Amino acid sequence: MSAPIALSGAAELLRLPPDAESAERLPQSRAGELTLEPGDVVVSDEGLIAGFEADSSCRRVDCAGLSVLPGLVDCHTHLPFVGWRAQEYARRVAGEPYEAIARSGGGIRASARALADAADTQVLDQARALAAEMLRHGTTAFEAKSGYGLSVAGELRALRLAGELAAGVEQPVAVTALLAHAIPDGHTAAGWMDEVEGMLGAVCAHTRAQALDIFVESVAFSNDELTRMGALAREHGLALRAHVEQLSSYGSVPVAVAAGARSVDHLSCMPAADIPALVGTECAAVLLPGAEFIGAEHTPPARELADAGVVCALATDLNPGTSPIVSLPLIAGLAVRRYGWTVKEALLALTLNAAWVIGRSRELGALTVGRRADVLLLDCPAGHIPYRFGHNPVAAVLVAGVPVWVREDHRWRFEGSA
Ligand code: NIG
Ligand code: FE
Repeated sequence: MSAPIALSGAAELLRLPPDAESAERLPQSRAGELTLEPGDVVVSDEGLIAGFEADSSCRRVDCAGLSVLPGLVDCHTHLPFVGWRAQEYARRVAGEPYEAIARSGGGIRASARALADAADTQVLDQARALAAEMLRHGTTAFEAKSGYGLSVAGELRALRLAGELAAGVEQPVAVTALLAHAIPDGHTAAGWMDEVEGMLGAVCAHTRAQALDIFVESVAFSNDELTRMGALAREHGLALRAHVEQLSSYGSVPVAVAAGARSVDHLSCMPAADIPALVGTECAAVLLPGAEFIGAEHTPPARELADAGVVCALATDLNPGTSPIVSLPLIAGLAVRRYGWTVKEALLALTLNAAWVIGRSRELGALTVGRRADVLLLDCPAGHIPYRFGHNPVAAVLVAGVPVWVREDHRWRFEGSA
């Protein structure tokens, strides 16, 4: 039998406040109580966090000079997709709005055509390569959505591919059925929702989807369909996610909360007056500063959301249109600068609260005894993550206690411990 591993002598260890070790989410206003003190982490043979004091039975991994964090959780991505849309980005930079590009057949429809034309292997090769790149940037669990299918058969295929992606990557993957992303040609919004209702039996029986999702926008769906999606999610025992208040404001946050949403995502145009609708609820605000930056969007009322004690999460929104970004350390840097958040706020939003959004925070998202040992070793203090904007601080990644990626200049640390 092999001995437990001790990640030993770290300069900083990110831990939850002692009274919140079994919490599954935390109001953002408590982020300042997270601690970043020197210490050890002991990992059991089962790949779980076993404790915080190394003894002589442990195989030691020297973590001198490093900070040790729980793995980051990317709770909002649009994997799997195929190809990119760089020409659209050039048009947007030159001033053409996202909605105009979408109406002219670009946007989500362009990626739907690419997906329809691609073989499964092409889609999965690209998605697996991106998942590996995410891992090297510290993402140890992520969400994958359908949404580029835009037909019943296309959405079921996208969900099948998401399931195949999940089976072939190091990270746990939570699958979401984004069944109302753009209105498919030949349908009205209400007519497409009838199709969605009709396909949910197959979605539940044959795919790994655990949540439904919808895009509320002038070029997509309305609050009426959001309410209907909430009813369908309840009926089928699925969580509800919602893309709302991204490019314009429809007052969708209270509608989503009333519909039972687990999260409201984007919120760039959310009025501060709607913040009380989220306080004390089981609905998280998922903020996507990468999409805000790429799209020159408005900035959500993120400081106010945090101060009001809303459960906040951050994610990449990785997709070929609004956010071709894989790096959560980069997202932390954007959030700190754009929102006036502290490093601890960004880290809470990328770990425990993000794990909660994908329904995995009992086992992931924090360094506490009994949670899975998904652990990052960083080559700098946590405070450098936003400050050294664009630097990838990840020196090593452990998934369930196993080093799955170690940067060349840090391999020596693991050599004696194998
Ligand atoms: O989250 N807003 C809707 N969906 C995506 C964009 C999808 C695309 O443009 O391909 C988003 O930003
Ligand atoms: Fe999105």
